[in-house]
Amino acid sequence: MTTASSAAAPLVAGTLIAEQASAQIATRTHQPVDLKLEVNGRRHRLAIDVRTSLLDALREHLAFTGTKKGCDLGQCGACTVLVGGRRVLSCLTLAVATRGPVTTIEGLTGSDDRLHPMQQAFIDHDAFQCGYCTPGQIMSAIGCVTEGHAESDADIREYMSGNLCRCAAYPNIVDAIKQAKPQMQEG
Ligand code: FES
Ligand code: FES
Repeated sequence: MTTASSAAAPLVAGTLIAEQASAQIATRTHQPVDLKLEVNGRRHRLAIDVRTSLLDALREHLAFTGTKKGCDLGQCGACTVLVGGRRVLSCLTLAVATRGPVTTIEGLTGSDDRLHPMQQAFIDHDAFQCGYCTPGQIMSAIGCVTEGHAESDADIREYMSGNLCRCAAYPNIVDAIKQAKPQMQEG
């Protein structure tokens, strides 16, 4: 009995040290960190949990709710935004790791009477039904064109395949991208 108790003592001490260490780490990660984020041409200063995703920073802290949360797992594309002109899944990107200016769907509209060519094309071609996936589809479509991946229907389908649409508006989305592409390249 005495021998067993002696043998268990280091284990108990080790467990206590491990618990204290993880408590200290947890305390540190809950401390807000200062962050500067440029969104839609305007600089914002935030104090947020270091684990906050770019998606939550945009929606919960900056009220850019046009960017949608679908799966929160990197599988649906609803959260797509542009960072430095390239499309990223904001649910898989830490806000503190964001490098470059962020553009969300709110940043596309120049004025009340003039839409971005891709927004207008989605309207012209009825490229949505419920609309939940649409902000992500439009941001991804813009990325698809600017990356040079809209050369054919098959090309568009391939490079838009990360954006799911439960309403199955896929053929209309392809048509919208084909309409907007030359207008984007002219402008
Ligand atoms: S919410 Fe980001 S990929 Fe689904
Ligand atoms: S328009 Fe409904 S999910 Fe795409």
